[in-house]
Amino acid sequence: MKVAFIECASLTREYTRGENKIRPLDQLDLSIDRGTFLALMGPSGSGKTTLLNLIAGIDSSTSGTLTIDGEDIGRMNRGKLAEWRAAHVGYIFQLYNLVPVLTAYENVELPLLLKPLSRRDRHERVAHALQLVGLADRSDHFPRQLSGGQEQRVAIARAIVGDPTLIVADEPTGDLDKSSAGQIMDLLVRLNEELGKTLIMVTHDPGCAHYASQTLHLEKGRLVEQPVAAH
Ligand SMILES: Nc1ncnc2c1ncn2[C@@H]1O[C@H](COP(=O)(O)OP(=O)(O)O)[C@@H](O)[C@H]1O
Ligand SMILES: [Mg+2]
Repeated sequence: MKVAFIECASLTREYTRGENKIRPLDQLDLSIDRGTFLALMGPSGSGKTTLLNLIAGIDSSTSGTLTIDGEDIGRMNRGKLAEWRAAHVGYIFQLYNLVPVLTAYENVELPLLLKPLSRRDRHERVAHALQLVGLADRSDHFPRQLSGGQEQRVAIARAIVGDPTLIVADEPTGDLDKSSAGQIMDLLVRLNEELGKTLIMVTHDPGCAHYASQTLHLEKGRLVEQPVAAH
């Protein structure tokens, strides 16, 4: 049997609130091939971020299995999972999450400080990542000196600087105007097509989902064939 790059089987995340249990993810089965650019859509509260965080190794499931590139990440302890995440995943957030007191260069360099690299190697990688997102000339700018679209491009450079196989993005254009959003989507397509990154992107915007190679819809923690009409 061929095993996909990402395999979720009966993947469930449950929270207990007093007497109540809620299940943002409910026995989800999902296979994602290597090299896919997947758009994940669905109403607010349908479990999109929950699924993304499990796949990114930021959160752990309550039950079910999750394997990525043959590794059962659901069974890793916190330390091992953090190591796995640092080696394999780049995360792009809606509000960029740049460190305000660091320059663009220093923000991109941050994940590399955990790796055993020489200063010179680090410099090469950071410069290359900033060049890839078209911001080589903004290296010494602080986040407050950049537009939203530029901030997100720095965040993308930070996500790819460690050369991850998998990139996840949670509503990466949710706070941007249409033209900046288009630039971000063009960049994500390049990461997918030219660098071969597997990409999973949560979005509310069908215009953004169009850039992806596949779209899936979540509702109440499950995948659905046909999304309900927008409300
Ligand atoms: N840490 C948490 N504790 C309790 N409930 C949570 C937690 N994280 C998410 N939820 C709940 O899980 C549901 C799905 O959340 P989420 O995955 O963020 O949805 P989406 O990203 O699709 O809007 C929501 O009802 C949310 O309130
Ligand atoms: Mg969300």
